[in-house]
Amino acid sequence: MTEYQTYEHDVIVIGAGGAGLRAAIEASAAGVSVGLICKSLLGKAHTVMAEGGMAAAMGNVDDRDNWKVHFSDTMRGGQYINNWRMAELHAKEAPDRVRELEAWGAVFDRTKDGKILQRNFGGHRYPRLAHVGDRTGLELIRTLQDHGIHQGIQVYMEVTVISLLKDGDRVVGCFAYEREHGRFRVFKAKAVVLATGGVGRAYKITSNSWEGTGDGHALAYHAGAELIDMEFIQFHPTGMVWPPSVRGILVTEGVRGEGGILKNSEGKRFMFDDIPDNYKDQTAKDPEEGWRYTQGDKSANRPPELLTRDHVARCINREVKAGRGSPHGGVYLDIAWIKEKLPNAAEHIKKKLPSMYHQFMQLANLDITTTPMEVGPTTHYIMGGIRVDSDTQASTVPGLFAAGECAAGINGANRLGGNSLSDLIVFGKRAGEYAAQFAKENSHGSVSSEQIETEARMALAPFDRDSSENAFIIQNDLQDMMQKNVGIVRNEGEMQVAVAELQKLKTRAAKCAVTGNIDFNPGWHTALDLKNLLTVSEAIALAALERKESRGGHFREDFPNKEKEFGSFNFSLKQDEDGRMQISRVPIPEMPAELKQVIEEMG
Ligand code: FUM
Repeated sequence: MTEYQTYEHDVIVIGAGGAGLRAAIEASAAGVSVGLICKSLLGKAHTVMAEGGMAAAMGNVDDRDNWKVHFSDTMRGGQYINNWRMAELHAKEAPDRVRELEAWGAVFDRTKDGKILQRNFGGHRYPRLAHVGDRTGLELIRTLQDHGIHQGIQVYMEVTVISLLKDGDRVVGCFAYEREHGRFRVFKAKAVVLATGGVGRAYKITSNSWEGTGDGHALAYHAGAELIDMEFIQFHPTGMVWPPSVRGILVTEGVRGEGGILKNSEGKRFMFDDIPDNYKDQTAKDPEEGWRYTQGDKSANRPPELLTRDHVARCINREVKAGRGSPHGGVYLDIAWIKEKLPNAAEHIKKKLPSMYHQFMQLANLDITTTPMEVGPTTHYIMGGIRVDSDTQASTVPGLFAAGECAAGINGANRLGGNSLSDLIVFGKRAGEYAAQFAKENSHGSVSSEQIETEARMALAPFDRDSSENAFIIQNDLQDMMQKNVGIVRNEGEMQVAVAELQKLKTRAAKCAVTGNIDFNPGWHTALDLKNLLTVSEAIALAALERKESRGGHFREDFPNKEKEFGSFNFSLKQDEDGRMQISRVPIPEMPAELKQVIEEMG
């Protein structure tokens, strides 16, 4: 018999980034008992990697901004396969959620007349990102943590969930282990909210830290939920490329929002070469205008460095492949040039981008106030995830809710920078509210000891194997393979290779052995993470193969155009009774006339 400790709550939230914390706060405010499970320590979450700000149409810097412009920017960024209702709710509710954070103690940068300051970001028509220097995600987490901790939320740190527990069709809790001593824990709950973030660790170059292994995506999928839009991965255009130990670490889009420009090794500002037709109306040909705009000019002209991330990442990729890259395989990002325009430029940069200044000073011995940075694309975010109801965040499995990056819909084929922080607080709140409501309407289900025994046996199996297959090596091979075959530019042949390689990697993972015991055993933790990484990688590869067009974060050199026929549905992935992944098409419901009109009005 497996030994484990049991905990009981009305609502369990798995994941303690922005979405998880906001969901926990809301559920707790509704008067139910809440347990919050963190894979790592409370406060350490990928949310802090959304540095440049949270998008909310408050109109503090440009009073032409409003929810309609934000909605239509989000739909255009997502190439119109977004869940339009989520995009609408997000655009309408984000300003209130930002003001609420301020009331809870978030210290935003201010305009001269004392309002929350908003900066430019890619794909947003007006300066829209409420920010705290380049540490906005960190401030969001700090504020929610401080607020949540006083609400009696029970926090379980350094606990990893291995599977969701079910009573019939319904999710009734989860099975987990504490990472320090490897002991098992059972959490019983009337409702479970997944807020586990992304899948970046399936790729070699990523801004995600070790926790980003697609846990929520995989937990939901194995519990019978549907995943959608998994082909859409966001490669953030600017990650560090040098030194090798820090490759992939994020260089915030805020650098470009503050006037940073991209140049190739010939000194050319290559982004002017390739402005898509649908953005021409918003893009300034004159570099001067780009700069004046970032200073608060009322012009809506945009520097081309602030085109959407998918586009900028592909342009950088093209320059590097054409031999016009920097010495370490990136391009140059120059914010130092603003000294030509601003007498106190160095101080300004240090004030607006303090983390970037320190990051480059400490990790690369480079002063960004005098010298251009070397940057290149890094796997940052997945638009795909658990299919949820737009208003309640309920998944297709009763009792299971999801919010934040592990849930899908709002972003469609590509997310605009800054929309993730506002997504977390808008839909985290909704997930918490509706999970609490579900918990009030339902009693605890029964937890099957048989399921617990099976899960525990599977989790411990790597200790009983005698094999040379090592979890770290399998993970490394997977990351190399995904980077090479399902990366920024894709084609049929390489993705067929990926699908075949994934089967081999699955076979190897099933034989993987670990030594030592359950205490402090990173090899074992990695072996357990493999199941999730392989599940999400298979979903990404299968959906990417099926989407025979290019749209947003999914670019195929063999199908370089956007095709109308692919604009009317999302690909959904679900496990069949034999445990195989099946892909199908889910039609996108017709957009109501008033929202269509908004998009038309916004051009
Ligand atoms: O570049 C950034 O600061 C990232 C923001 C985001 O992903 O939303």
